[in-house]
This record gives sequence, C-alpha cells and structure tokens, in this order.
Amino acid sequence: MPLAMRRLGNTELVVSRLGLGLAAVGRPGYITLGRAHDLPALRTEAALYERTAALLDAAVTAGVRYVDVARSYGRAEAFLARWLDAHPAVAPPPTVGSKWGYRYTADWRVDAPLHEQKELSLARFREQLAQSRALLDDRLALYQIHSATADSGALEDQALLAALVEARRAGACRALGLTLSGSDARRALDRALAAAIDGERVFDVVQATYNVLERSLASDLAAAHAEGLGVIVKEAHANGRLTPGNRRPEDRRLRARLDELAHDATLPLDRLALAFVVAEPWVDVVLSGAATVVQLQSHAAALDATIAPAVRDALSELVESSDLYWRTRAALPWT
Ligand SMILES: NC(=O)c1ccc[n+]([C@@H]2O[C@H](COP(=O)([O-])OP(=O)(O)OC[C@H]3O[C@@H](n4cnc5c(N)ncnc54)[C@H](OP(=O)(O)O)[C@@H]3O)[C@@H](O)[C@H]2O)c1
Repeated sequence: MPLAMRRLGNTELVVSRLGLGLAAVGRPGYITLGRAHDLPALRTEAALYERTAALLDAAVTAGVRYVDVARSYGRAEAFLARWLDAHPAVAPPPTVGSKWGYRYTADWRVDAPLHEQKELSLARFREQLAQSRALLDDRLALYQIHSATADSGALEDQALLAALVEARRAGACRALGLTLSGSDARRALDRALAAAIDGERVFDVVQATYNVLERSLASDLAAAHAEGLGVIVKEAHANGRLTPGNRRPEDRRLRARLDELAHDATLPLDRLALAFVVAEPWVDVVLSGAATVVQLQSHAAALDATIAPAVRDALSELVESSDLYWRTRAALPWT
C-alpha cells in the first residue's frame, strides 16, 4: 500500500506522511535506548552503511518519500547520497531534508567526550551548505537550522537570514527550515515566524518534538501549519522511551501503563506512539528513527492505525511537564 502523500506546508515539496530519519544509523553513537541490542556489535562504516541501505530499501518499498539527515549525523548525508546514486529509478525519489549548525566531532567513537559542536553562524552555514551540496547536490530540497534556540541570536541575525534567503533564491535548496528542541522552543518558533527579508518570509518548514509525553508545542505548531509552514515531527518515540526497548528503571510505571494502553488499542506500543502523532491534521510528516528494518516496517503500519477516543484520553494522563521531559532527555547517555 502506498503511504499517503501531501505537500509540505506551502512549499512545492511533496512528502509521505512517514519519513525516515538517519540519526540512529549514520554514526556509531546516539541517545536512543536499545542500541546495544538493535545495532551490529561492530559499528564500522561499512556495517552502518549496510544498515542504512537496508532501512532505505525497506522505507522506499513501504512508500516513504521523505528522508531526514544532518551534517552532524556522522556519515548520514554521504550514506544517503551513495544509496540514491545506486537507486536512480526510485520514482518519485525521496524528498531530502538536511540540517546545518552542528559539526560531528566524535571521530567515529561512542565514548567521545564531545559528539557534536554547535555554531549557528553565517560562516558555519556557508561552510556546511557547501559540504551538504557537495554530497547531495540538487537532491538537497530542505535545509534547516539544527536546533535553533531563541537565545542563540541566529533568528535575528540579519546577515545570516539574508544568506539563507539568497541560498533559496539561487536554488541551493528549495525550502528553508529550522528544528526546535528544549522547553523554550515556543519562543524560537515565534521568532522564526516573524523572520523576513525584504518582506519575504525566511522559514517554510518547522521540525519539532511532539509525542505522547511532550505536547507543549501542539497549539503553536497547529497555528504555524495554518499559516502555511510545513510541520515535521521528530522524536515521536521520545528517543525510545515510548517503545518496548525502554527498560529504564525510572520509566517502569510509565512502561506498565503504556503496555496496558497498547493492549487496549490492540496495537504494538511503537505503533500506538506514532499513530498518536499522525492523527494530528497539522502534522505533515512524522519521522521514524528506526534502527532496524523490523522497526521501520512496524512504523509504516502505524499510518493505517486508529486510536479509540478512550485510549487517546487515557494517554493524556501520561503527559510530562516540558521541563521534566527535556531534563530526562538531556540525561540519556550516548551509547
Ligand atoms: N534536533 C533535531 O533536528 C533532531 C533531534 C532528534 C531527532 N531528529 C530526527 O528525528 C529522527 C527520529 O528521532 P529519534 O531518533 O530521536 O526518534 P524516536 O522516534 O523518538 O526514537 C527512535 C528510536 O526508538 C527505538 N525504537 C523505535 N521503534 C522501536 C521498536 N519497535 N522497538 C524497540 N525500539 C524501537 C529505536 O532505538 P533503539 O533501536 O536504539 O532502541 C529508534 O532509534 C532522527 O533520526 C532524526 O532524523 C532531529
């Protein structure tokens, strides 16, 4: 069954409602919860390319036509470019979104002291746009500021905003976006909506966290969508906390309640978490962060799932305060 497709906000980009994110497989270390079990013991470049290619094969077969990468996801852009080169006949080809702002610094090590280094400057944008284009060329459709915060100054940096708009006008990418993280994301979204150069809105797309536990941006994202922004949701599984892979002792009660509700919904837990997100009409794309093909296939099935109102109401009891949610996320180890 092909997945439902739609336009990404007011952009000309056409996307599937399920996208595939490559954060978990483009580099050996990340913060999801079951990596030791779900990834090969030897996380060489060759092994992770094989995993990425298997995921892309399965995703495209399932109808996925949006792929999310970033400069900082290790070799994710290069892996995607290699896979796209090897599959020129995929029609329509997946729409590709990447991000700039963080540099990958872990040197292919899981125990690196610093995995990523952030700088939302004009110089970093120019440097990383050239790197992303060198790998992805015209396939780079959407270029996003990676985790733009209100206090970074980037959203008021007129020289940077002008350079972003110039890149879009010149065709270096077809749409501009920003991704949001943290409990202060609303302020960043407000600033992004206000950002304009010569009366031309800078940002076409926002990528933000929304899931059963963290819903604080729901009304703001719905309003942004109504204003024409494309909305991409990340972390629908709360970095693995909303999956069977979550064995954190602190989440024992949460897991028990989630398992009961998944049973009531007659859905596996991972599918329930995704179906919850995709039910929102203002969500254009929900990203799967699948680390295995089995996970990806389960995620694709979520698009056909519906959640009974009673289960949806019961899921509302599990909402966490934004502060607690982001403190918990910040404490997840890189493994
Ligand atoms: N700031 C940003 O822009 C930003 C931030 C975060 C993510 N993203 C994007 O969003 C994508 C998704 O985010 P995320 O990686 O944090 O995703 P997520 O959907 O919250 O968590 C994904 C993880 O959950 C686990 N999982 C999923 N299904 C499972 C199942 N059936 N059974 C057991 N475990 C399961 C897998 O991890 P294990 O196999 O390790 O358990 C998987 O990697 C990323 O790939 C990235 O492209 C962007």
